[in-house]
Amino acid sequence: MIDQTTIGKIMDTAQIVDVVSDFVTLKKRGVNYLGLCPFHNEKTGSFTVSPAKGIFKCFGCGKGGNAVHFIMEHEQLSYVDALKYLAKKYHIEVVDRELSEKEKLQQSDRESMLAVNEFAAKYFAEMLHNHRDGKAIGMNYFRERGFSDETILKFQLGYSLDESDAFYREATAKGFKPEFLDKTGLSPKRDDGSHYDRFRGRVMFPVHTLSGKVVAFGGRVLKKDDKTAKYVNSPESEIYHKSNELYGIFFAKQAIVKQDRCFLVEGYTDVISMHQAGVQNVVASSGTSLTPGQIRLIHRFTPNITVLYDGDAAGIKASIRGIDLLLEEGMNIKVVLLPDGEDPDSYARTHNASDFIDFIDKNQVDFIKFKINLLLQDVGNDPIKKATLIGDVVRSIALIPNKLIESEYVKECSTLLAVDEKIIYNEINKLKQNKREEFQKRTSNGTRESVDASSTVSSADDIQIPIDQTTHQQELDILYFAIRHGVEFLYREYQPESHEFVRDWSVGEYIVAQLLGDNIEFKNPINMALLTEFATHLHDEGFKPSTFFMQHTQPQISRLAVDLMTDKYQLSKIFTREEQHTSVDEQYRVTAKAKRDAQKLEEHRRWLLESVPRVIYEYKNSIVVDLIKTEMLKLKEAAEARDIKATESVMKTIANYNTLKAQFAKELGERVIVKLS
Ligand code: CTP
Ligand code: MN
Repeated sequence: MIDQTTIGKIMDTAQIVDVVSDFVTLKKRGVNYLGLCPFHNEKTGSFTVSPAKGIFKCFGCGKGGNAVHFIMEHEQLSYVDALKYLAKKYHIEVVDRELSEKEKLQQSDRESMLAVNEFAAKYFAEMLHNHRDGKAIGMNYFRERGFSDETILKFQLGYSLDESDAFYREATAKGFKPEFLDKTGLSPKRDDGSHYDRFRGRVMFPVHTLSGKVVAFGGRVLKKDDKTAKYVNSPESEIYHKSNELYGIFFAKQAIVKQDRCFLVEGYTDVISMHQAGVQNVVASSGTSLTPGQIRLIHRFTPNITVLYDGDAAGIKASIRGIDLLLEEGMNIKVVLLPDGEDPDSYARTHNASDFIDFIDKNQVDFIKFKINLLLQDVGNDPIKKATLIGDVVRSIALIPNKLIESEYVKECSTLLAVDEKIIYNEINKLKQNKREEFQKRTSNGTRESVDASSTVSSADDIQIPIDQTTHQQELDILYFAIRHGVEFLYREYQPESHEFVRDWSVGEYIVAQLLGDNIEFKNPINMALLTEFATHLHDEGFKPSTFFMQHTQPQISRLAVDLMTDKYQLSKIFTREEQHTSVDEQYRVTAKAKRDAQKLEEHRRWLLESVPRVIYEYKNSIVVDLIKTEMLKLKEAAEARDIKATESVMKTIANYNTLKAQFAKELGERVIVKLS
């Protein structure tokens, strides 16, 4: 964890133009800078950088944010890693925040295991490069496979000595606990308490996570020997869930984003050889079929996958099931068969990148077409087999979320299988109907549970309501005012009878009093976290909500703040007049100008005084409206059951809510007619 002071320092130092310029050529245009967007392909620049606001924004693809977000997006790093990247760039020392005892305990197992793995990767590489056996056996092997020095270093390849516990002894001597050597599977513990090295006598392939941490190893035997498994892999552990990792993703992510396509291969060596040939957007599923977790990992970077199969792959049919999963996730899948006897590894060793890509582009076929053709081979004239095939293909097509693509496939399928389109649609609709019914069955049980589980609106009663989109938008509307105008003056309160001055209210004080004062909680947890912290710091000396939250230690909060500060966030239609007003903060900076612009200031304040109570009112009102809706349902049930007592009680509750509604409306009316100071 990085503490907020350091984050602040990093953000203050990192000039957006400077940061972006490392990756994009920028030209000055008026007060802003313009360039070609690195996040999508474009010929004319719609990528804008505002040094004054410290943000970037692409009007083509919509991406935007501050310097940290740029690095997160461009380098595909986590929030913390992006901050560390910037700290390094500007030579700012990062002081990791002290963890609480509880955090330490939670962290320590994982951290210790990661530390062991990091040490192991270094140790195995050291053995490969410097140990007599490593050089003679391991290095020799990699050389024979045609791996260059650069490749070997990049993938942190290594060698594990052919001794029973060489690694174990070295690691324990360096102070690593046997417990974690066992837990990572590097040196498992025997029943008698002794340890042995899992990977002895093998060349080592570290498996990196998305952020580059080593979570596992694959070790390959060197001799052709049928008795021992070709690869031995780390076991599943607290830090390694095989189904959520993809070999090569750390080295591929940037290229995947840039090329907007990901190649999927089977093995470690396929990935490595393709990299060496210059094709970097490639990952391996490590011999097993894809899991939903792995698919989601790829989908973060691109919806386009091309699966590369060996020419003679017997496993194609088996892997087709896994590919149906890809369709369901809305990904576009193409398939390439490599020439007979070739795998991606061998093909990459004999072809350069552009030839390889050329081959792929010329030979890749759409997955559904591929599947149909593959299955057709077995059908012949057998009508039953054909019916089964149609059913199978239709199941794949029915998974596709996009209607347009679906209709393309139906056409294709109709031609290839010589079946009427109508019949295919019929089948698809049947499947979808089944699915809908299943879904409804599941959710009709589920709805009530989820209603009960959602958070309470404590202002009125203990009735709980689910979160919906409108509510979320309204919460954002409120936070918009809190973040942008939170410390500005809203109105002066007088005692109605005596006209005596009571107090001044700032926008933030008003919002906090209206919500937290009434025990109203935001339903979205991130919105709520921001609101709570806003309330806590509202009276801090020199508190500037925009800066404070954009530099927040929690990435979701910082992201939200940036969105609210940039044009990305659109205030609901009823409040669209902000554009006409410059922020009061800015006006205060130049006092003379502020005086000259007194009228503008007045206008701005009027706008705030109209909008802020209104935004609160809309929110409270919709909460009550939702509550009433829920009561109405209960009323119906009670009436149907002829339960008079229940009916009366529900009606009473509804009447209370209606009173509350009227009260909100009245308050809104009163607030708006209060005179400005
Ligand atoms: N694999 C495994 N255990 C095995 C065989 C294979 O874990 N006994 C996994 C490995 O991740 C391997 C992938 O399946 O990389 C593909 O297997 P294969 O094609 O046999 O291995 P290659 O990576 O091609 O290795 P090589 O070229 O060295 O034979
Ligand atoms: Mn191979």
